[in-house]
Amino acid sequence: MSATITVLQSQLPAYGRVRTPYEKELLETARILATRGKGILAADEPNDAYDARFAPMGLENNEANRRKYRVVLLETEDLHKYIGGVILSKETVEQQCSQGMMFTEMLRKNGVVSGVNVDGGLRPFYEGAPGEEMTAGMDGYVERVQHYYKLGARFCKWRNVFKIQNGNVSESLIQFNAETQARYAALSQLNGLVPIVEPEVMLEGTHDVETCQRVSEHVWATVFAALHRHGVILEGMFLKPSMVVAGSESGIKCAPEEVALATVQTLSRVVPPAVPAIGFLSGGLSELQSSEYLNAINNAPVARPWHLTFTFGRALQGSALKAWKGKDELIPDARRAFLHRARMNSLASQGKYDPKLEAEA
Ligand code: 13P
Repeated sequence: MSATITVLQSQLPAYGRVRTPYEKELLETARILATRGKGILAADEPNDAYDARFAPMGLENNEANRRKYRVVLLETEDLHKYIGGVILSKETVEQQCSQGMMFTEMLRKNGVVSGVNVDGGLRPFYEGAPGEEMTAGMDGYVERVQHYYKLGARFCKWRNVFKIQNGNVSESLIQFNAETQARYAALSQLNGLVPIVEPEVMLEGTHDVETCQRVSEHVWATVFAALHRHGVILEGMFLKPSMVVAGSESGIKCAPEEVALATVQTLSRVVPPAVPAIGFLSGGLSELQSSEYLNAINNAPVARPWHLTFTFGRALQGSALKAWKGKDELIPDARRAFLHRARMNSLASQGKYDPKLEAEA
């Protein structure tokens, strides 16, 4: 039996929270990530996602160009005003920025916490069950998370996806994903990283808001039951859900107030107030929709004990990528566009966003 397993057995009581020497640091990291007015930039897209992003600008999708693009975003002056943490890809967390130091070090110096995507990507759950995918990456996880801690990461992300088909997601997938996610979260806390728990109910589909609400409530409730079973320290984690919206192929246009009420009401039914922050993914919503919805969420007439913020990828980067076009001389334009979105979402996380402010872009 390895030393790691022995440690885990002594640290995991039959019931109760994991005991970890990193507890104080976890709470401090979670506190920074829950700073009012700040959110998280998800910059952890897998390498192949850059085929489609770089092709329109005639840029080759290679390591040098992906690093260059990450330098454009992450070395933006004033990033720290609106962004408390950045989720790096497995590639970026190992790289140096343009200033002769690791990206993690540069971010830390600027008051931004580094996170890293640690999951092993999606795999078919069962052959013959199209659209149902599980997340790989549990094998060797402890060694990986220890390595990322040494590189300077202080939080991490594991993404599960749930595709609504015929109004449902299979119960076996929900249970399996919740169990894996809770185990990932406990192992991350035992080794010093605040886990972002991301159960993404996907936007794709023909479902209405009520269906998304019913599925989301069940998925989140199942995830929190599993987190409890594994003794995860709720004060030292971060939830990253989707907003509760109608499916992108439903033809239904949702008013921000409707999305906000469905989202916060559902969260309030299943997410304990001990969780410090909830940062939504944008999931394919437009940049403006994402800001409008987040703003409405922060004005919803339902009790909101958590910091409700953004953990956007596409909704923070779309305009910046378009402005950059792969050209050095356009980097200032790209940074302006990026900072504008970050500021709009910072305002939305405080319920102070106004679409009229978009004219300042
Ligand atoms: P989007 O905001 O583009 O959905 O990305 C967030 C993310 O990290 C998905 O895992």
